[in-house]
Amino acid sequence: MEEKKIYIFDTTLRDGEQVPGCQLNTIEKVELAKSLEMLKVDIIECGFPVSSPGDFNSVVEISKNIKESTVCALTRAVEKDIEVAAEALHFAKRGRIHTGIGTSDPHIKYKFNSNREEIIERAVKAVKYARKFIDDVEFYAEDAGRTDNEYLARVVEAVIAAGATVVNIPDTTGYCTPWEYGEKIKYLVEHVPNVDKAILSTHCHNDLGMATANTISGIMNGARQAEVTINGIGERAGNTSLEEVVMTLKCRKDLPFHTDIDTKQIYKNSRLVSTLMRMPVQPNKAIVGRNAFAHSSGIHQDGVLKNRENYEIIDPVDVGVNDSVIALTARSGRAALNHHYQRLGINLTNEELNAAYEKFLLLADRKKDVNDSDLLIIVGVNRSEAARKVRLKFLQVVCGKSSVPMATVKLNIDGEICEATSSGNGPIDAAFSAVKKLVNRKIVVEEFLVQAITRGSDDVGKVHVQVENRGNLYYGFSANTDIITAAVEAFVDAISKFI
Ligand code: KIV
Ligand code: ZN
Repeated sequence: MEEKKIYIFDTTLRDGEQVPGCQLNTIEKVELAKSLEMLKVDIIECGFPVSSPGDFNSVVEISKNIKESTVCALTRAVEKDIEVAAEALHFAKRGRIHTGIGTSDPHIKYKFNSNREEIIERAVKAVKYARKFIDDVEFYAEDAGRTDNEYLARVVEAVIAAGATVVNIPDTTGYCTPWEYGEKIKYLVEHVPNVDKAILSTHCHNDLGMATANTISGIMNGARQAEVTINGIGERAGNTSLEEVVMTLKCRKDLPFHTDIDTKQIYKNSRLVSTLMRMPVQPNKAIVGRNAFAHSSGIHQDGVLKNRENYEIIDPVDVGVNDSVIALTARSGRAALNHHYQRLGINLTNEELNAAYEKFLLLADRKKDVNDSDLLIIVGVNRSEAARKVRLKFLQVVCGKSSVPMATVKLNIDGEICEATSSGNGPIDAAFSAVKKLVNRKIVVEEFLVQAITRGSDDVGKVHVQVENRGNLYYGFSANTDIITAAVEAFVDAISKFI
């Protein structure tokens, strides 16, 4: 069966960035656009140039920096918007204008105080005007999800005749069910006479949690472009998530579609978006959540260790995650326990493993997560604070609005006190860098999570840190009313596990 290519249109920098409090500056947007280009997205929608000088500037800078992906700018069906977008795209090697207007009855009546015929005229005029500046023009029929199919087909036919190369069918309010959305695309494929002259695109919002299902249904019924965001970010409940659509098409071999996405770049992009936009990814998020590949039940752990295909439909390596995590809980089996001992460099005989397993079960009944220190204690290796090779003895930071963040750290490394001072992006970064100087190992911080236990500013903050050293991951934890101290203690806790 011949596989059809699905074009991936990423709108993290436009629709995704509309999340309140997640706005990026131009430098951050260019960094993300370059990363999306490495991910091999076909189109990067990067702003609404007429909306602000910042958006205009970002589209200009991204246009200068991106060579492979098409750079797209959004407009309303308004001449001024289109002129400004064309100017912002001036440097783009491949540029696209995305113009459109609302087509549902509520939009026509309450937003535009207009009527169906007039809306078609405005749509056609906008597409023709955009084509004067650029060859690649996409039209969006806003709120197509709630637009009557017969009328929508007339709009689509008219804008294709006017020169639209792509027609976007947004479910703006996230209202459709997968059947309904698929039927809508099918209706257009069957009833728009010139539909073969353009590509139909999906653009689904997730208000009812069906954005990915709707997108896949749209593709199965004839859409050839999917509009998505990394981690599914976007206003309200978000947009369709790129990783879910791409991995569905990759892992369901019975669906005759493919994308050009380099899936090994997915996890990296997910982390980048989460960090730049300061939006944590929910732990159980499909494909990129912390627990997406973590198995906790004994039967699953044993199965995955024998052959990951027993319980994993996706190899984590395919999305750029190094390995699946085998979490230890009361439901874990011997195989999982042994896996962790081997990771800690401890090889147990069968007899030793059986004895350790008995003790482990007793402990796991009382404790939610059994950590590395517990495992070492079970087999008689003392890892109490006093027995640790690395301990934090002293920490002093200087930070504030107009000063360079600096940190001085004293560590006790195997009985010897050593001291280092470093600067950084903030006090925590400065302290981490001082610690790294002292331990002199290549350590990469993979995850850094700060949580307040209650609500007050005098509250205890909990910090979880995950670091990578020579291909292995180590967790550290600390809690303190001084959040900077908690962060550095958690970092030292993680480091002390491999030193
Ligand atoms: O959701 C929507 O309708 C949109 C359009 C502006 C494309 O984001
Ligand atoms: Zn949208």
